[in-house]
Amino acid sequence: MSEAVAIAHPNIALTKYWGKRPGAGRFPAVPSLSVTLAGLSTRTRVRFDGALSRDRVVLNGSTADGETEARAVELLDRVRAASGDARFAEVESRNDFPTASGLASSASGFAALALAASRAIGLAWDAARVSDLARRSSVSAARSLFGGYVELDAGAPVGQSPMDDILAARPLAPGAHLPLAVLVCVTSEAPKAVGSTAGMKTTLNESPYAEAWLSYAPRLHARLREALLARDFTAVGAFAESSALAMHASAIAAGVVYWTGATLEVFAAVRALRAAGVAAFATIDAGPHVKILVQPGDAARAKAAAVAVPGVRRVIEASVGEGARLEAPPGVGAAKAT
Ligand code: PMV
Repeated sequence: MSEAVAIAHPNIALTKYWGKRPGAGRFPAVPSLSVTLAGLSTRTRVRFDGALSRDRVVLNGSTADGETEARAVELLDRVRAASGDARFAEVESRNDFPTASGLASSASGFAALALAASRAIGLAWDAARVSDLARRSSVSAARSLFGGYVELDAGAPVGQSPMDDILAARPLAPGAHLPLAVLVCVTSEAPKAVGSTAGMKTTLNESPYAEAWLSYAPRLHARLREALLARDFTAVGAFAESSALAMHASAIAAGVVYWTGATLEVFAAVRALRAAGVAAFATIDAGPHVKILVQPGDAARAKAAAVAVPGVRRVIEASVGEGARLEAPPGVGAAKAT
């Protein structure tokens, strides 16, 4: 079989990864814990074909830009090297949500590409191995291989982390462990100005608060992990908001500003919800959108508050979703990555 189709969902980090270990290999400098979303997806088809003279990458119906193509080709090179099959591939990927705007499209995109490409070229890799492959293209993508609540350790300290070390995400708890609604408040449909790789590099190199972030993030991670395992929604939400604020505070101090006026307005609405007794919390990734975390019973009230905020274009309601999976060829039952 030289063709495979994979579906993956974005994930939202409750404790953020922001910063890589120095050197090659995309090893995160801090641990992270995420929730995989249902309700937004990427579907990617990969076909290896001996008749092709180069890789072709089509994203949302158009030829991918140079940088996106280069990152996809890098992943294809890895599966070619591992399998000994030198054929080029045709990649066709489609998101049902805005691409590259801080809505974690690289997470679902590289998770789907890693699963489809490894399967299409005939590698019988388990989900951990595919997660490691995805991490080498986008750290957060490692987590989208799994459903529910997912954890990714930091890479080993510099000098102890050879390029070929495997570092994969792992599932921590299923979605049913702590039911959650995520309201993605879309404030712009435009691609973000500063990519996450560049943004975190500038933060670690130039922020006066870089050291503070690197020492705070693992401690906060351990506390959120504990609260999650204890099913303490309020503590999970408060720690998640703290992680996002600390990450952005360190970035902003280096001049890396993803927030817009609308970001602050949604934040204010979340604080107003809390003042009114609703356990609502906000998290923000490398873009202007705010994701509101609430228990499912509070989703309607929080959504009504969010859509009323000036600058919010639409609100996507997501719940906890499943991991990446292969789409079965017509007539065959679905196959899961896990
Ligand atoms: O996976 P990357 O390199 O695109 O970085 C993602 C960084 C954040 O989304 C801001 C945080 C995270 O852990 O997902």
